[in-house]
Amino acid sequence: MQSESGHLWVKAAEGQAEIIERESGHTSGVYPKRPLAIVRGAGARVWDADGREYVDCVGGQGAANLGHAHPAIVRAVSEQASRLISCPEIFYNDRRAMLLERLAAVAPPGLERAFLCNSGAEAVEAALKFARLSTGRSQVVAAMRGFHGRTMGALSATWARAYREPFEPLVPGFRHVPYNDLPAMQEAISGETAAVILEVVQGEGGVHPAEPGYLPGVQALCEERGALLILDEIQTGYGRTGKMFACEHHGVRPDLLLVAKSMAGGLPMGACMIGPRVGSLPPMAHGSTFGGNPLACAAALATLDVMSSDDLPGRAARLGSYLTGKLEGIRSPAVRQVRGLGLMIGIELKVKVTPVLQALQTAGVLALPAGSTVLRLLPPLVIEREDLDRVAEAIAVALEGRPALRMETV
Ligand SMILES: Cc1ncc(COP(=O)(O)O)c(C=O)c1O
Repeated sequence: MQSESGHLWVKAAEGQAEIIERESGHTSGVYPKRPLAIVRGAGARVWDADGREYVDCVGGQGAANLGHAHPAIVRAVSEQASRLISCPEIFYNDRRAMLLERLAAVAPPGLERAFLCNSGAEAVEAALKFARLSTGRSQVVAAMRGFHGRTMGALSATWARAYREPFEPLVPGFRHVPYNDLPAMQEAISGETAAVILEVVQGEGGVHPAEPGYLPGVQALCEERGALLILDEIQTGYGRTGKMFACEHHGVRPDLLLVAKSMAGGLPMGACMIGPRVGSLPPMAHGSTFGGNPLACAAALATLDVMSSDDLPGRAARLGSYLTGKLEGIRSPAVRQVRGLGLMIGIELKVKVTPVLQALQTAGVLALPAGSTVLRLLPPLVIEREDLDRVAEAIAVALEGRPALRMETV
């Protein structure tokens, strides 16, 4: 059977209703799920079990920067799966060695080492431990509206009360200051501060980019006071904002740089990259059974290849300004502000976002919230311009009931 985009698709063995019923019977219950069973993807499009096609601006919540079923990832994973999947870091491995070298080459200067793990929260936990170990201090300064994950250390750095409160007491020693407020940071960093942890664009907190001068100012304060700077690029990392790493927009060099989500073409993987101020880390300081497994390393190497051969950061910059222009052209009293960097875009609304997300889904576009009033778009960086037109038009219709102004092609 052929979809409207020309892709072949095979209807899932079960329809949506059956899948939803079976999954609902046994799932943990911790996710607010949408009544949609996604069974296939290609590029920036996904299909539900009934064969309906969607433009995917959820993008695996930032994991699918290369889109779905990218041939380079499929090839790398299947080749590696037939050679070696498991190889803990008590041994060396060819794929891991190559990946560590490549990471050091693409990261901002100085980040020559990396601890490999399996998720964003794990990368955050590693950074917090390394910062304590390296400085001998225990306090951490984080930002209001910041999001760093849901394990106990990462949750302690996360701001939103709804995530934190049910699990208190959390790890002691964390405090939160307003983002983009250098004087507040100056007041907060003391001789007891092990690290400052910040996002370069706050994602879950509503898509708020760092203002020019803020991150270099924080870096200078950290250096002056002997604290380490941890930049959480788990959502911004790998091309999304128009640069390989969003910190390149600001010329900052973090001591610990965190990536996850998109680094292995959608497979679970994370990394805590380590700069010279961290010093040496002793054996047994940390570890992970699956960390640096050859399968994820092979996928991560293929991801780096595609990032550079297809210049996906450049594509994100170009398409990001194209889409932002279209969204800014929407005339609707419901829109407060359009903001973001590259293909990480937030539309702050004056109304609740959930009905807008539902209307978009009905129109064949999947998107994310960031809080209760921000519509967040994280499309795969391989998305085609015609799909962005479809997204902008669907948003225009949902917000003002008419198509968005067509913009000049960039
Ligand atoms: C900035 C940031 N840090 C950390 C995390 C946690 O990542 P994970 O869900 O892989 O644990 C997220 C997830 O959304 C994130 O956006």
